[in-house]
Amino acid sequence: MKTKITAFMISLLVISGCSSNSSQSVEEVDHSNMNEEMDHSTMNQDEMENEHMSHDEVVSLNDSTGENELKIPSVLEHDDEKGSVYTVRAQKGKTEIFDGTETVTYGYNGSFLGPMIRLEKGDTVKIKTVNELDEETTFHWHGLEVAGSADGGPHESLKPGEEKVIEFKVEQEASTLWFHPHPEGKTAEQVYNGLAGLIYIEDDNSKSLGLPNEYGKNDIPLIFQDRTFDDKKQLNFSAAMNDDGTIGDTLLINGTLNPKLAVNKEKVRLRLLNGSNARNYTFKLNTGDSFVQIATDGGFLNKPVTLKEITLTPSERAEIVIDFSQLDTENELALINEDGSILLPFEVSDQNGKVSEIPGEMNNFSITEEEKSLPVTKKLELFGMMDQVTINGKKFDPERIDFTQQQGETEVWEIYNKPDEMGGMIHPFHIHGAQFKILSRNGEEPPENERGWKDSISIHPDETVKIAIQFKHKGVYMFHCHILEHEDNGMMGQVKVE
Ligand code: C2O
Ligand code: CU
Ligand code: CU
Repeated sequence: MKTKITAFMISLLVISGCSSNSSQSVEEVDHSNMNEEMDHSTMNQDEMENEHMSHDEVVSLNDSTGENELKIPSVLEHDDEKGSVYTVRAQKGKTEIFDGTETVTYGYNGSFLGPMIRLEKGDTVKIKTVNELDEETTFHWHGLEVAGSADGGPHESLKPGEEKVIEFKVEQEASTLWFHPHPEGKTAEQVYNGLAGLIYIEDDNSKSLGLPNEYGKNDIPLIFQDRTFDDKKQLNFSAAMNDDGTIGDTLLINGTLNPKLAVNKEKVRLRLLNGSNARNYTFKLNTGDSFVQIATDGGFLNKPVTLKEITLTPSERAEIVIDFSQLDTENELALINEDGSILLPFEVSDQNGKVSEIPGEMNNFSITEEEKSLPVTKKLELFGMMDQVTINGKKFDPERIDFTQQQGETEVWEIYNKPDEMGGMIHPFHIHGAQFKILSRNGEEPPENERGWKDSISIHPDETVKIAIQFKHKGVYMFHCHILEHEDNGMMGQVKVE
């Protein structure tokens, strides 16, 4: 109730705040002018902070009781001997999330969520996608570098009963990607209902590093999604929906309510995916111990980065390794959120596991001098909240191409998150069809754990980020805020790669 009122009050303020900006010029925006505008605003800094905090105040997650074993998505079997043809069906079904109750859900090749598709660099892959829902959907491969025609954006909509075969060659390096629907205006609801699955890409490097790699044993996918269940334990999207991002008090990890993870005393690799519509997570261990991050959205970091906590905004991934052979397991161990809520209790056995290695060198990611000296050729300004969200002052129009870029050419995009009178909010910004490099955040080098391939980046209010991006294929690709309700509300544009 509290959040509803807050959201309603915010929307009133936003509407009044936005009208003064509606004539804002687009494409190229002079930031110095905007800062002046901010200074002339009637609110002082303190008031802005307060408003910002109330906006950020989201309902906490219930602690996981740890009564259920974490579910691990099955690995998708290929259809043929050669191992390169797969079938993915979007389906509606019923799932027993709560004991003894069936919840109506969506899933891929099943009633809820989807299987993990394991691909190898160099593979030529065919995926038959089938829409068995009673509404339109698309199949989008988030983070995968494929031609626009295979990318599954809103233009690739399949009607109920339709199917489409896509084909592509895997040319990018080992990484944890994912797939989800992308129909115009309906992405949030379909993901909320359960459409999301994982893609693992492996390559020679990933297989030779000696990292934990026993799927479901010491190499664990964790898809974090928060939901609101109604009193009949159903996912009632229209009731729970918030224009600034639908959140809930109930966390599901891989679709498991109140999960716990059983591990041996060994190094365990967790592939974290923030698959939530809108919630940000800051993951840490309840003991305050550190862990290492080994991969970003699109590949390994050059070196493991030691962290005590990591924040992921919607659609971001990170691979981390926790060394359970080194931790004091006398006390209860758990992965917790920033505010202390228990996300995933660990049950550590007495058994010593395999000794895996975390090598000091894992990749050769670099940003060249040339990339650093490229001029900014595309400027984007993210603005607004609720249903008043825009990019460069415009809402998504499927008929409008916002930018063009040459295939194989690196360009620097500058993305600015323009605050409003209330301070604004973080927008997780994502681009289809490519992995990019973060050149700077507010002119500074990005933190060590962001010096790797990314396809999504959190952008804070009043922050300017520069990225270097190259598209390997042709086609029309979306770029958008990955708060799915913002995307559906039009915070999305299109780049055509020729
Ligand atoms: Cu995760 Cu437009 O996608
Ligand atoms: Cu995507
Ligand atoms: Cu947004």
